[in-house]
Amino acid sequence: MRVAVVEGDGIGKEVIPAAVEVLDVFGLPIEKVPLELGYGKWEKCGVAIDDDDLDVLKSCDCVLFGAITTPADPNYKSVLLTIRKELDMYANIRPIKPLPGVTGVTGKSDFDFVIVRENTEGMYSSIEEIHDDVAYTKRVVSRKGSERIAKSACKLAKERRNDLMIVHKSNVLKSDTLFLDVCRETARSEGVDHRDMLVDAMAYSLMTYPERYDVVVTTNLFGDILSDMSAALVGSLGLAPSANIGDKYAFFEPVHGSGPDIAGKGIANPIAAILSMKMMLEWMGYQKEADLVEEAVGKSILEKITTPDLGGDASTIEVGRAIANYIKDMLDR
Ligand code: NAD
Ligand code: IPM
Ligand code: MN
Repeated sequence: MRVAVVEGDGIGKEVIPAAVEVLDVFGLPIEKVPLELGYGKWEKCGVAIDDDDLDVLKSCDCVLFGAITTPADPNYKSVLLTIRKELDMYANIRPIKPLPGVTGVTGKSDFDFVIVRENTEGMYSSIEEIHDDVAYTKRVVSRKGSERIAKSACKLAKERRNDLMIVHKSNVLKSDTLFLDVCRETARSEGVDHRDMLVDAMAYSLMTYPERYDVVVTTNLFGDILSDMSAALVGSLGLAPSANIGDKYAFFEPVHGSGPDIAGKGIANPIAAILSMKMMLEWMGYQKEADLVEEAVGKSILEKITTPDLGGDASTIEVGRAIANYIKDMLDR
């Protein structure tokens, strides 16, 4: 396996080394290919990602990615959107599962759901028209795009509790009527129990009754917003991992961004990145190793080796090293 390792900007440069330190404990036959992309590269070379970078990414099986800063410059093309589109990674899988010893804003820990976010179209079509007094963004919902994300969500639902929630805004957006219809048809033909809810009501319901949900499928921007919001249920944005999956490539990254307010301080929580690396191990078929990562992450929290977002005073490196050492101990046993 060849993995492109992209630290990116800001706290990406802090959390990815921690995730790599944990990965290295296993000594697996994984070749790491470091690649510089993002705002830092843009400042140096005037381009955040180029065709050669895309070739390197495509020569790898998957990508472990930190975070990238996106300036509000109209000439800056988002690296993440470019990669998701170029590698056609259409399913963004964002598990929301409490870790032992930490609860989020609701104080609940009896929930476990996954947001399946369409990752290539919707409000992220990049079809935009900017004038002085008006600007347009075209929202694209296609049958093909909806069908393939609905299939990914159904597959996951069948592996889990067979309960699909389709989230949309079809009372206002006719494009979402297509999304809803296609998701319903797909769930019916796949034999998956399904319900649907408008996204505004869903935001309230997720924060009030998170235990009611299993697999939540939705369009791109709604999935983006609901996933950051749901991270508050598990206790920190620094705990939420994600996987961008296509038919050929996969790309693993924390849900959070480059954290400019805490970058350089060494206090970013590396767990979202470490759990994203865990999702990479699962995707590669290393289930036993993935389980050990999750167990060691839980242990680090229970033993209160945590970064300030979880109330502790450990550094990014200390948390990563503690998790790596727990795994070493478990492997030696
Ligand atoms: P952000 O996710 O970087 O930060 C939001 C808040 O959460 C901040 O207060 C930050 O300190 C905190 N936070 C985030 N990750 C944390 C961690 N691991 N440990 C502790 N606290 C953490 O969102 P933002 O500030 O809105 O965005 C900053 C930049 O990141 C923007 O340029 C944005 O476009 C980009 N971004 C990139 C990605 C990505 O590359 N995957 C994702 C989201 C945002
Ligand atoms: C995410 C991020 C990205 C998104 C940005 C940085 C383009 O917020 O991965 O959730 O909106 O998809
Ligand atoms: Mn986001």
